[in-house]
Amino acid sequence: MAQRGDELGEISRTFNPLEAIGRIRILAPSLPPMPFANVHIIEHPVIQTKLTELRDYTADHRKFRTLLDEIAGLMVYEVTRDWPTMPKPVQTPLEKTIGQVLARPVTLVPILRAGLGMADGVLKLLPDARLGHLGVYRNETTLEPVAYYQKLPPDVAETEVLLIDPMLATGGSGTAAISFLKKAGVKHMRFVCLVAAPEGIQMLHSHHPEVPIYCAAVDRQLNEKAYILPGLGDAGDRLFGT
Ligand code: PRP
Ligand code: URA
Repeated sequence: MAQRGDELGEISRTFNPLEAIGRIRILAPSLPPMPFANVHIIEHPVIQTKLTELRDYTADHRKFRTLLDEIAGLMVYEVTRDWPTMPKPVQTPLEKTIGQVLARPVTLVPILRAGLGMADGVLKLLPDARLGHLGVYRNETTLEPVAYYQKLPPDVAETEVLLIDPMLATGGSGTAAISFLKKAGVKHMRFVCLVAAPEGIQMLHSHHPEVPIYCAAVDRQLNEKAYILPGLGDAGDRLFGT
């Protein structure tokens, strides 16, 4: 059953994306690159090469899908680099030893729709992960996030959660998704996207400063329709050919 959570309503009351974009533009018409706390930009040359191909408007949905999948997989190494591990005894063909394994089970939560395009790439590296789904889209007029579907594994609170969505634009969708995960009791989560706008980072971290953001690029700004510049266009439409 589609429903808007209280938390989502609260965000809508306290944040008007259109007003925020205008305010940022007036204060800083051309935003200089600025360092953000708790934002990790993965500048690996292979990821950057694939991201450049992804930005290219001539990439059709088949190429877009392949590249998004590959980049998401490559990002996993950096995103999970400092996850806790625990010792586990293992019998090799020669002797017993103590290995290390992830301390917590993993839940992957794509924000529908475009987040789905990153899921398989991440699952290739973390095949034991469970999958939750959060359906959120932006109202095209107000730009406010509209939540329409939520399904999480029952023990999600105890797991390591990767919330995935290629785009962090105004930050409305990501902020609402994190609020929902927190209500479900999630304590350990990271937000993984490809392209982030400064406005979206500010929005997300004004509500959830402790949630690390991992991305492949922080782009210049949003346009008047809240698309990321230079960005890569509408990720969902390019991914699904809609
Ligand atoms: C896109 C994208 C994010 C959201 C980002 O989804 O995948 O979820 O926009 O924008 P925001 O930071 O301003 O909220 P969209 O609303 O286009 O839905 P879709 O994936 O179903 O196409
Ligand atoms: N959502 C997208 O898919 N692209 C943008 O540039 C902004 C939001």
